[in-house]
Amino acid sequence: MNLLDRPRRLRVNPVMRDLVAETDVSARRLITPHFVVEGKGVRHEIGAMPGVYHVSADTLVDEVAGDLELGLKTHLLFGIPEHKDAHGTAAVADDGVVNVALRKLKERFGADIITVTDVCLCAYTDHGHCGFLKDGVIVNDPSVGQLAKMALAHARAGADIVSPSDMMDGRVGAIRELLDDEGFVNTSILAYSAKYASAYYGPFRDACSSAPQGDRKSYQMDPRNGREAVLETLLDLQEGADMVMVKPALAYLDIIRRVRDEVLCPVVCYNVSGEYSLVKNAAKAGLVDEAAIVRENLLAMRRAGSDLIITYHGREALQKGWI
Ligand code: PBG
Ligand code: ZN
Repeated sequence: MNLLDRPRRLRVNPVMRDLVAETDVSARRLITPHFVVEGKGVRHEIGAMPGVYHVSADTLVDEVAGDLELGLKTHLLFGIPEHKDAHGTAAVADDGVVNVALRKLKERFGADIITVTDVCLCAYTDHGHCGFLKDGVIVNDPSVGQLAKMALAHARAGADIVSPSDMMDGRVGAIRELLDDEGFVNTSILAYSAKYASAYYGPFRDACSSAPQGDRKSYQMDPRNGREAVLETLLDLQEGADMVMVKPALAYLDIIRRVRDEVLCPVVCYNVSGEYSLVKNAAKAGLVDEAAIVRENLLAMRRAGSDLIITYHGREALQKGWI
């Protein structure tokens, strides 16, 4: 009788350990974020995020070409417009920064890549909120209308997947309806379903100059809540989401597991800017072995139940053979 009382037998050497490992990370599971700015020939490093750059559309095409050689096929675009106003009008413009980039990418790479776009107003509004601000309140339904228009503009420009990150109620349903009405029945929706009001977004807000007046606690989730993540996820699926997301990742591995156990669709997690910059800076200070930390973190997200991971580490991890 084998009582499995000698688990060390299967850890005897690296080849044996590889044989029985339960979890992997590989390029196909990684989604690479890009911060797209207006102009030409732009590539400057974002102060708060070492190794991550602001790029213009032309430079983005070169970056994606390099990523593709590493096996990174899925690219998430954030737009940083020059013009910001109360309603984020640049977000719905056909020639907006993300739409110009999408057309360039699709012209060059066609169906060899998957383009994902962040659908949210915070980088486009002068007050930095993800929806419309009225008398100090983020109003839900008017914001949803604008977000749906933004998603439609992205679909028209070639987005394969639109990804609403605003956390307004009902936005997934509104986006699905508008996309279908306009004939974009095959454009998928990756919903940021359980997005927490997190301090881990700090470096990103620096990258997008999207720090809000006040905070986002009236729309993003309270870190004290777990059940509510399931509610948000089920609502998004009911409204037509094709994939769901948990964000951030590392402080929310329990939420990833919980959501994974509730749904049948792919689950995505977002290894956010603060998680990235903490690792980068700790490695720079010689406190940790970056390769080992990145591998361990990404594996933890996979083990918790994430099928796909949005991460800033992907390119370097693949280039340097960390994963
Ligand atoms: C915008 C958005 C944020 C992130 C993705 N989309 C920031 C926020 O909600 O403040 C965070 C990404 C990161 O930190 O890497 N809604
Ligand atoms: Zn936002």
